[in-house]
Amino acid sequence: MAASPSFRSAAAAGVLLAMVVAAVCLPGAAAQLCEDYYDDTCPDAYDILAIAAEISVELSGGPSWGVLLGRLDGKTSDFNGSLDLPAPTDNLTVLQQKFSNLSLNDVDLVALSGGHTFGRVQCQFVTDRLYNFSGTNMPDPTLDSSYRAFLSQRCPRNGAPASLNDLDPTTPDTFDKNYYTNIEVNRGFLNSDQELKSSPQAQGTTAPIVDQFAGSQDAFFASFAQSMINMGNIRPVTDPSQGEVRTNCRRVNGS
Ligand SMILES: *[C@@H]1O[C@H](CO)[C@@H](O)[C@H](O)[C@H]1NC(C)=O
Ligand SMILES: *[C@@H]1O[C@H](CO)[C@@H](O)[C@H](O)[C@H]1NC(C)=O
Ligand SMILES: *[C@@H]1O[C@H](CO)[C@@H](O)[C@H](O)[C@H]1NC(C)=O
Ligand SMILES: *[C@@H]1O[C@H](CO)[C@@H](O)[C@H](O)[C@H]1NC(C)=O
Repeated sequence: MAASPSFRSAAAAGVLLAMVVAAVCLPGAAAQLCEDYYDDTCPDAYDILAIAAEISVELSGGPSWGVLLGRLDGKTSDFNGSLDLPAPTDNLTVLQQKFSNLSLNDVDLVALSGGHTFGRVQCQFVTDRLYNFSGTNMPDPTLDSSYRAFLSQRCPRNGAPASLNDLDPTTPDTFDKNYYTNIEVNRGFLNSDQELKSSPQAQGTTAPIVDQFAGSQDAFFASFAQSMINMGNIRPVTDPSQGEVRTNCRRVNGS
């Protein structure tokens, strides 16, 4: 993997951090994630992703949280399973179903969506909203008109689908609450972003949470850290007969 030097050192720092923290395991149920996992084993691909997510949020000005470790990587890749992931075109009802299916609630949905406060996304995920929303041959009516004009220049109708855009044009590399202040003024990038505030189903469910995070970065950071832990604890594989440590995180070993 051709990682940049800063990514390499951040990941290395994360692994180091994981090795020195105290030995505390999740209380309760069967096989567990731990904080001292790497005292006697090697980091696996899935844990490295979890650590890299934490470090990149922290280095970009966001909150920090303790990443529990010891997930094993899957022995299969499941295309159908990937269809359960949230999609940029999903409406609020579908997003809520996908999250609640994993015991994640509306606060988790809104907080984790705030990860779109930094990073880039390809034009192909916004062209429907710009030119042919729900097959109407019209733009998404919830999209702010000057933001739409800006995005139309960056993502022309027949332009390169893989061209990259900032998810948060106000502070593209900073982890802050601007994702929510953008949504408040109809400048969410993806349909799945704006739905959290503009869907009729958002009233009394996700819209008040968007309002709360738009008003309080502290509230957003606290919820984001907790929701990242909640998401990281979804059905982790810790039983060695059910998983493995991949040597290449894109491939099942031996494939
Ligand atoms: C995925 O879903 C399709 C359609 O429901 C089904 O035909 C196929 O067998 C599934 N594949 C796996 C690997 O489960
Ligand atoms: C809910 O999860 C199950 C299995 O974990 C999956 O088969 C189903 O498609 C999921 N439903 C949605 C709406 O994501
Ligand atoms: C949300 O999307 C699903 C799947 O496309 C659709 O069946 C449903 O009617 C939509 N719900 C609303 C409220 O638009
Ligand atoms: C707009 O979307 C609809 C439905 O997906 C499709 O049938 C139609 O061809 C699209 N129009 C254009 C101009 O791409």
